[in-house]
Amino acid sequence: MRILILNGPNLNLLGQREPGIYGAVSLAGLEDRCRAEAKALGLELGFAQSNHEGALVDALHDAQTNQDGVVLNAAAYTHGSIALRDAISAISVPVLELHLSNIHARESFRHHSMIAPVCIGVIAGLGPAGYPLAVRAMHDHLRAPAP
Ligand code: DQA
Repeated sequence: MRILILNGPNLNLLGQREPGIYGAVSLAGLEDRCRAEAKALGLELGFAQSNHEGALVDALHDAQTNQDGVVLNAAAYTHGSIALRDAISAISVPVLELHLSNIHARESFRHHSMIAPVCIGVIAGLGPAGYPLAVRAMHDHLRAPAP
């Protein structure tokens, strides 16, 4: 079983970026937490981050052949990218939407997710703990998809 952890714009700055909202853990630190979870579950992880919408679309297309599932923190593209939504719809690999912060408790422009309707589920607001949780949730989904 292979799962891609795909992160969108500005998430390369985690740790330094608005720590009051996103916490003090770097992206590398989040990846380490995912690796520990993956080891316990016996699955393989891939990691990618881009600040560019098209590169995220390409990564989703590639996932169709290389991955069994994708955990996607699309960051700001969550709220406006029809291209990302279409890319998720275009592939048969399941995608789980992930956010560090509780987007529903923030500015109103963050309340709407363009991608949520085409994802299998959403994890938001749990901070760094959401990342390993998302790995486990995707693992469980791939084992036995929810009805
Ligand atoms: C985010 C929430 C988004 O609204 C924001 O644009 C981000 C990060 C999160 O992980 O909480 O960049 O996806």
